[in-house]
Amino acid sequence: MADLWQSATRRVASRNTRLSVVAAGDCPGRSLDRYIGPLLEAAGPLRGRFIDVCGWDGSLAAVAASADDAVGVCNSHLIGSVRSARANLKGTSCEVRPAFGIEPAQTERFDVAFIRAPYWLGNRAVRTLVHAALLSLQEGGEVYLAGERSRGFDTFARLFDDAFGGFERVVVPGRIKVVRARRTTRQLTQGPIFASEFGEYGAMVNGWELRVARHPAVFADGRVDDATRMLIDCLHESTGRQLDLGCGSGLLAAAMARMSPESRIMAVDSNVAAVEVCTRTAELNGLTNVSVRPSYFGEELRSESFDVIGCYPPFHVGPSVSHDAARRLIREAARLLKSTGEFVVVQSSAQSHEGVLRKWFGQVREMARSRSHRVYSCSHPPAD
Ligand SMILES: C[S@@+](CC[C@H](N)C(=O)[O-])C[C@H]1O[C@@H](n2cnc3c(N)ncnc32)[C@H](O)[C@@H]1O
Repeated sequence: MADLWQSATRRVASRNTRLSVVAAGDCPGRSLDRYIGPLLEAAGPLRGRFIDVCGWDGSLAAVAASADDAVGVCNSHLIGSVRSARANLKGTSCEVRPAFGIEPAQTERFDVAFIRAPYWLGNRAVRTLVHAALLSLQEGGEVYLAGERSRGFDTFARLFDDAFGGFERVVVPGRIKVVRARRTTRQLTQGPIFASEFGEYGAMVNGWELRVARHPAVFADGRVDDATRMLIDCLHESTGRQLDLGCGSGLLAAAMARMSPESRIMAVDSNVAAVEVCTRTAELNGLTNVSVRPSYFGEELRSESFDVIGCYPPFHVGPSVSHDAARRLIREAARLLKSTGEFVVVQSSAQSHEGVLRKWFGQVREMARSRSHRVYSCSHPPAD
């Protein structure tokens, strides 16, 4: 598993099946393992094709493939999770697609859809998954959603009322709750499902009025985070190549492009929804000097190097606080920065990266500070 970043193995179990699965350190699939058994129990032996609309590292699909020889698809929107899922589903009849919810080509193709409610993403994200699951089903197909009362399950179950006009509770042992609904010809999906459908909002940053695309599975959906604003305020004009490392909806990349029209800006993110949304933000603002790519820790940029790198590193893996991915992104920023370049990074009060910054950069200077955030400018030591 050399290509999986900090992969760990864990055991997942359901219906007399026990498996070992792998997951990259930044894959939140583990948080939802407890829903796998109840969902597969509720659905019974799988016939036809199934889809797991937010399948993370493919653990549900791996158990289904092992227990029932099931044929299906695991959709996953984070590159680390996609890699883990491909490893876990190798040699089965299940495939992995990089998507949050469904891809347009997956419409009306499946007999069963599963949703493990990713409660930490909020109601809008779960609503999107419910609509995506409905749209993925053939007539007569069934969708199952699992969750916990203390994690918003009753609200999520009510989303089935809106989408399917009703639902049935399936009794399963334990504290995990499961509801089921069936697709009929009368049901129409209402509301956005695909990244291009989520709309946009206006934001004033550094004196520029920007249009910003949005998506419920992309950081700070529909608002400008204070740390992002502070980072943008610390930017300088540059004629060189710039990188927005972990671009989210693309505010930083858009600000770089506005401030430095002569510069070429690359924006990357490991969330495929963020890549679509950032691309749209660049289009909405007519920014032709921004290119956007999916990338896991900048690995795909290989031999490229940048004069300026801006980054607001992540601080969560699913519902849990974690700084491991941030530390690795900082190390990759040091690799991607030119010897004369500048790395500008913001941290919130929940983060403390100064030690890691000093490990990878010769010079680290605090540029700005507020009660809750700090911005650092980092560079390599100048050549003698
Ligand atoms: C705190 S958010 C900041 C997003 C955006 N720059 C902003 O200010 O709104 C961190 C971003 O890093 C991305 N990210 C996390 N792990 C990553 C990785 N391994 N490679 C690339 N991007 C990553 C997340 O998907 C998320 O969009």
